[in-house]
Amino acid sequence: STRPPVSLLGQRYAADSSTNITSAIIDKVGRNLYMNPSHPLGILQSLISSHFHNFNSMVGLNPVVTPAQNFDDLGFPPDHPGRAATDSYYINKDLLLRTHTSAHEVETFARGERKWLLSADVYRRDEIDASHYPVFHQMEGARVFSADAVGRAELEDDNARLSHHLARSNIVIEDVPHITASNPHQDVHDPVLAELVALNLKLSLNSLMLTLFGDRAGVNEGEPLRVRWIEAYFPFTTPSYEVEVFFRGKWLEILGCGVVQQQTLDRARVPDSISWAFGLGLERIAMILFSIPDIRLFWSQDPRFISQFTAGQINTFKPYSRYPACYKDVSFWLPHTGLHDNDFCDLVRDTVGDLVQDVVLIDSFTHPKTNRSSKCYRINYCSMDRSLSNDEANSVHAQVITNLKDKFGVEIR
Ligand code: PHE
Repeated sequence: STRPPVSLLGQRYAADSSTNITSAIIDKVGRNLYMNPSHPLGILQSLISSHFHNFNSMVGLNPVVTPAQNFDDLGFPPDHPGRAATDSYYINKDLLLRTHTSAHEVETFARGERKWLLSADVYRRDEIDASHYPVFHQMEGARVFSADAVGRAELEDDNARLSHHLARSNIVIEDVPHITASNPHQDVHDPVLAELVALNLKLSLNSLMLTLFGDRAGVNEGEPLRVRWIEAYFPFTTPSYEVEVFFRGKWLEILGCGVVQQQTLDRARVPDSISWAFGLGLERIAMILFSIPDIRLFWSQDPRFISQFTAGQINTFKPYSRYPACYKDVSFWLPHTGLHDNDFCDLVRDTVGDLVQDVVLIDSFTHPKTNRSSKCYRINYCSMDRSLSNDEANSVHAQVITNLKDKFGVEIR
């Protein structure tokens, strides 16, 4: 069967058997929420851009990338789970929607950028709940130093300036060693220079955490800001780290970062240099700073949401009436080919849009005699903007069941 072409941002792309992008996703491409200066995502984007005021801040890159840009060029192994159709939105076998802003590292370094930020929408197939949405926004940042005495002097200066600023601030940092056996520097790097770059990365991001979370009403209430550094692993950086911030009694993961793998700079034809990079999710941070309880709200056009925010200001969101949840279950026998949770969630999202608040797998079982498997999902239907009648919930649920039978050939129990 031939599939209709996919239209995205005025371009038409041939579909093939890898195509799994849905119309619910296509509708979101080009919304550019982070470019609206009075949207919480835009407010946060501007705050981060002004923190890094001498970095070149880029926006508006097309989300359609090749698997090479998103994975191979960054050193992802061929069997990395992120590449799977269950985890990413493919337009066809040769193109997908970027799953992270790191997909643009090589081209940005190749343009000669040495201090840069890049903000963009990114796309991942995932489960459905209050903090997961298949479209979200990231900011990538990087800084390149020359791998010589000039770069070393620049690092030493900048590290002294940042350390001085942090020493006078209300912040407590739980650090890890910059370089360890399990989080090594790269063989091509002078270990002293790699240490200086890792330190510059840490100081730069501790300073960003102070700008975002330090002494802000409702965040710490006079307590020092607690920041924790953890060893991490990314295919495109080493050493690598994650940064967490202590907020309302919990450690929250804020970003990933590290010293850029030299092959990235080599691919970009940037010689004799060393760089750090970080990537952070805007929604996660905005939900904390603005007390936004549900990730779907970022997409709301309801004036009761939009009108609460002002360019340049971080204020606490005042929830308007939360409408009652309406739970509906669906149980079915799986087709022989199985059915991934993410396939089920995308079908629900594509059928009912943002009326779905969360989806939980409540039962999964295989019949001992027939060997057939069945699953039961509980879908919570609830509108952000209005009260949903039980009749309407029943009718959208019936549509979900119809589509489930048509698209996946399941047998309802
Ligand atoms: N791209 C990574 C992610 O999405 C974050 C990251 C960016 C990590 C840059 C290291 C360096 O999780």
